[in-house]
Amino acid sequence: MGRPIPSSSQNSLTVRDNRTGKSLEIAIEDNSIPATAFKALSAAPEKGERDENETNKGLRVSDRGFLNTAVMRSQITYIDGEAGVLRYRGYPIEELAVHSSHLETAYLLIYGSLPTSSQLEVWESEVMHHGVVHADAEQFFRSFRYDAHPMAILTSAFAYLGSYYSEANPSLQGQTLFTQGSPESLAVMDKQIYRLIGKATTLAAMAYRVRQGRSFVTPPTGFSYTGSFLYQMDHLGEENYKPNPVLEKALDVLFLLHADHELNASATTVLQTGSSLVDPYSAIAAGCASLYGPLHGGANEAVIRMLISIGSPANVPAFIEAVKKREKVLSGFGHRVYKTSDPRSFIVRKTADEVFKVTGKDELLETAMALHEAAMKDEYFIKRKLAPNVDFCSGLIYRAMGFPLDFFPVLFAVPRVVGWLAHWRQMMLQPGGVKIWRPRQIYVGASKREYVAVGERSPVEGLQKTPSQISHSGISKRTMIATFKGAKL
Ligand code: CMC
Repeated sequence: MGRPIPSSSQNSLTVRDNRTGKSLEIAIEDNSIPATAFKALSAAPEKGERDENETNKGLRVSDRGFLNTAVMRSQITYIDGEAGVLRYRGYPIEELAVHSSHLETAYLLIYGSLPTSSQLEVWESEVMHHGVVHADAEQFFRSFRYDAHPMAILTSAFAYLGSYYSEANPSLQGQTLFTQGSPESLAVMDKQIYRLIGKATTLAAMAYRVRQGRSFVTPPTGFSYTGSFLYQMDHLGEENYKPNPVLEKALDVLFLLHADHELNASATTVLQTGSSLVDPYSAIAAGCASLYGPLHGGANEAVIRMLISIGSPANVPAFIEAVKKREKVLSGFGHRVYKTSDPRSFIVRKTADEVFKVTGKDELLETAMALHEAAMKDEYFIKRKLAPNVDFCSGLIYRAMGFPLDFFPVLFAVPRVVGWLAHWRQMMLQPGGVKIWRPRQIYVGASKREYVAVGERSPVEGLQKTPSQISHSGISKRTMIATFKGAKL
């Protein structure tokens, strides 16, 4: 409910419900009002008058897609979408990309300040030493089909990983395991953070190698985070194998850029899932699933599929026209928050130049540039403030580096584990404790109705097939025939 406020206060909102004439004054705090304040407004004030339109249940705030609903007070990442500003804990992304590393930035995002040299040493050592997974994990990875999408493997792998750590499971250890803020509780939390970040690259590399038919590689010592990742993916028994330093650095910059982006769909999913106080491995698995979709972290894969389908710069105008008619999707453009170019996209383009010097240019680059130019000049995109986002160019770098197309979202998910954990930790330790995330719906379904026996129903909606249209694969047909014959005997 809105806090009681002096009626003379200007830092408030006055609302009048014209259905009843009732007025409400709601305090404005941090430029926001609590949605629960509206529960005091109801069209049918008399008790006992219940109806499915919910008019007697207090006014709901409707916000499909969370367009203007704040669910957290956060100190982690700041975005000004109109000005194209992105800062992690106050530091501009451009400065971090030049001066910091992914692991140092991870510390910043999770713990709030840049580490001292001894804090950094401990942090890097802990994360890197937690890269190894139990030998049994091999069987888990080998249980997937050769053509399984690596995001399906990675998503499952995070949930699987949680099964090893009963000490990190609030269902087993007590519901306040992560919310106490005591030194013991913080230490348990830290350990899961080391494990999840340290093992993210290991799980991702295993998801890659199992599909290549390669044996798995133990995380090496003495490598950077991305160096170790590349080693685990590519090492084939060579002596003194070292990944190319330009590619290792480029991947580190890309990881840093992808580390967090405030309350995007996947971070919100992690918090929604974590709000039930489930273990962090399950919450991260949920975030991974959310990131996988083509509107979010799957967009880098979708961009390349789109560029391949366009084929050449000559086909760009026709493609743009098809997008405007909503026949095609322009992946890698548009953003819920940015109404100008995504600041990360400039750094990605610089990184692409470095990578192409080593790998050679990607053949899709010309088509990408033609598409970029055409979209930025077109009234449709200008009017809607649609500009390239981080995914428009990142896929071209990953392709030039030789990663398989369906592995691109994995390269987004691995660094994003950092941001998910930063938000999860912040929520676990927030003043007032954790509140389960349980939104309301606006019920628009049927009013109360009587159950009708199956033979007396007329088809209104639902399955369109009739029993004669049921089809079975050859194998199920044979099984059915065999069973029926068996039954007759
Ligand atoms: N191509 C063509 N039209 C677009 C695009 C696009 N990529 N994105 C938005 N629009 C149009 C949309 O049709 C709508 O037009 P109208 O007002 O006439 O109906 C208008 O622009 C506003 O778009 P919206 O769908 O209301 O915007 P949203 O905030 O709900 O969606 C988005 C944001 C990122 C899902 C969307 O821009 C999109 O689908 N982009 C392509 C997928 C993509 O690149 N995703 C990666 C996002 S960045 C990485 C990350 O953080 O995940």
